[in-house]
Amino acid sequence: MSTDEFPTDRPAVVTCGLPYANGDLHIGHLRGYIGADAFNRSLETLGQETAYVCGSDMHGTPVAVNAEQQGVDPADFALDWHEQYKETFPKFNVDFDNYGHTHDETNTELTQEIVRKLDEAGYIYEKEIQVAYDPDADQYLPDRYVEGTCPYCGAKARGDECDEGCQRHLEPGEVENPESTITGNPAEYRQRAHKFFEVSAFEEYLTEFLDGLEGTSNARNQPRQWIEDGLQDWCITRDMDWGIDYPDAEDAGADGDDLVLYVWVDAPIEYIASTKQYSERVGTDEYDWEQVWKDEGEIVHIIGRDIIQHHAIFWPAMLEGSGYNAPRGIAATGFITINGKGLSTSRNRAIWAKEYLEEGFHPDLLRYYLTTTGGLQQDVDFSWEAFQEKVNGELVGTVGNFWYRSLLFAYRNYEGTPEADVSEEVGERIEGAIGETREAVNDYDLRGVGRAATRLAQFGNEYIQRNEPWKLTDEEPEKAAQVIRDCVQLAKAVGILIEPITPDKSQLLWEQIGEDGEVADAHLEDALEAPPRSFDEPGELFAKIEDDRVEELTAKLEERVEAASDDEAESDDETETDDTDAGESGDMTDTGDLEPLLEDRIGFEDFQELDIRVGRIESAEGIDGADDLAKLEVDIGFETRQVVAGIKQLHDLEELPGTNCVLLANMEPAKLFGVESNGMILAAGEEADLLTTHDDAEIGEKIK
Ligand code: MF3
Ligand code: ZN
Repeated sequence: MSTDEFPTDRPAVVTCGLPYANGDLHIGHLRGYIGADAFNRSLETLGQETAYVCGSDMHGTPVAVNAEQQGVDPADFALDWHEQYKETFPKFNVDFDNYGHTHDETNTELTQEIVRKLDEAGYIYEKEIQVAYDPDADQYLPDRYVEGTCPYCGAKARGDECDEGCQRHLEPGEVENPESTITGNPAEYRQRAHKFFEVSAFEEYLTEFLDGLEGTSNARNQPRQWIEDGLQDWCITRDMDWGIDYPDAEDAGADGDDLVLYVWVDAPIEYIASTKQYSERVGTDEYDWEQVWKDEGEIVHIIGRDIIQHHAIFWPAMLEGSGYNAPRGIAATGFITINGKGLSTSRNRAIWAKEYLEEGFHPDLLRYYLTTTGGLQQDVDFSWEAFQEKVNGELVGTVGNFWYRSLLFAYRNYEGTPEADVSEEVGERIEGAIGETREAVNDYDLRGVGRAATRLAQFGNEYIQRNEPWKLTDEEPEKAAQVIRDCVQLAKAVGILIEPITPDKSQLLWEQIGEDGEVADAHLEDALEAPPRSFDEPGELFAKIEDDRVEELTAKLEERVEAASDDEAESDDETETDDTDAGESGDMTDTGDLEPLLEDRIGFEDFQELDIRVGRIESAEGIDGADDLAKLEVDIGFETRQVVAGIKQLHDLEELPGTNCVLLANMEPAKLFGVESNGMILAAGEEADLLTTHDDAEIGEKIK
């Protein structure tokens, strides 16, 4: 790991969280894989040597439970999905250098080797624990075979994760009021020996590791808190058949032969195994997996924010304990909503990968939408209207329009690129855009990558408009040629800069300006290299999405969600096996969408610890670079507090000053986007309806 700017002279590897091989891919998955792909391509345009690897996550209860429900063998079930994923990703131009799976030989061997190393280094021990058991089903209940209440936040939780609440990993036995998901019976507990990995031994190491870690801030801050709360050792075995056997099972202790490794042990190891397979395929002269993982390399993980703990605590501890390199960066993406509501596969409120393609949309449009709205960090809301607006406004109106009008003009008047040098103004503008891109990549800011490209196209449109070459061709032919020469250069530059996001469309542009080879092989500096002298008549690369199309798609989606809700109402005993429902948010008319009431009661004293005050908003302004955040000054009688609130998109900020609000005053101060927040404004609902007072409460009064 290094902190030198990208590109470095060490090879990089970019990975994306492995998809569980247990169901259809949807926009929630695509968001991650497309984002990581675009990030990897961006590194390549900087000249960074890099590989993008991934694979299917075949083991664990997420696969076993679904396979069982369908009455099929988990191996066949997982392989089927694996094959489907492998075919689907390229259709979205997600270009993995290697896509393996966790059940293959490379990963099985490497996993056992790493566990052996951890064992030899003294980090693994055996302990008797209480394991949930279903007497009727006569089986142990690991992970998703059991559900109950999260001991940390009180939300409904799975056996190994608080997926609807605080997102914590839960250890066997931790979930409260456990029920079997097989029979619905309350689970019994049985004593059983399991293997533990001594994560607590890595406290100091992890603290330092997090200090140096790049990527998104959530991947550092949450883990810091967990370390502060005290690290627990991690149970790494499960009572299941499906999985990778604990190495040398005879010595594995009690009934060692049916202990498999917990899925979260072998899954991240696939990052290494997949890199190894790539290396073996292309030869170590071209790409050496051991250099990256053991010697000097730049390891970047792109993940969902529900799996930060696995990647920023367990995984680096495993790597350190077995002699591998630590990741340089972890970027944790936000959640995705559809029309403002949480994506839910059981409610069919999702955009499915297959569906998107069947509707006949080009993958680059979705790539553009997802990367420029969400980047690697932000939450993304998808609606067909917003998609249409982005595509029509930015891709058709700005990028496509600039490409087409400049190339067509160039073709008609010069049969290609006019002879001239690029003007200083345009040369400098392109250099500026290159600089912006480089900086954005180093900040893991994918939206910045998109912005640099679209802004350059925007500049191109203004440039052509301002210089009106069509008026110059007769009177001042040299000046006209100069303007068009500049525009062709700008078109090429935009093509290179936006390639990580819209690779197909950029390639077509590349061919239109008569370039050979692949735009994907071009580096940022090539944006300043002269394009070929002649080219053929260009065509338009983007087409508008019409309103009636959007209406039709929106209606289809609504109908589908309704139909699924009806089904659900009829059979509410259905086991929820969703992986991506986290972050679902409320629809006030349907209690199914409301957050469950917390069971744990608190005393009046606990309530008194919350210092909630009536305040008046004095000023409100957006925070640069943060799409959702606003900075507020709130008068609370004694003093005026600066508060950051996620309401930028939801309120007309100019209207806020003068209104009363309710503020949690003894909230720990925090920094968001470099701006200090000293309190928390209370709000409810999807539009952040601000709580207020209505009568005689005075500014500064305590809420009681
Ligand atoms: N399959 C897991 C999930 O969907 C992710 C595994 S990522 C890895 O949550 F690190 F384990 F590879
Ligand atoms: Zn929780």
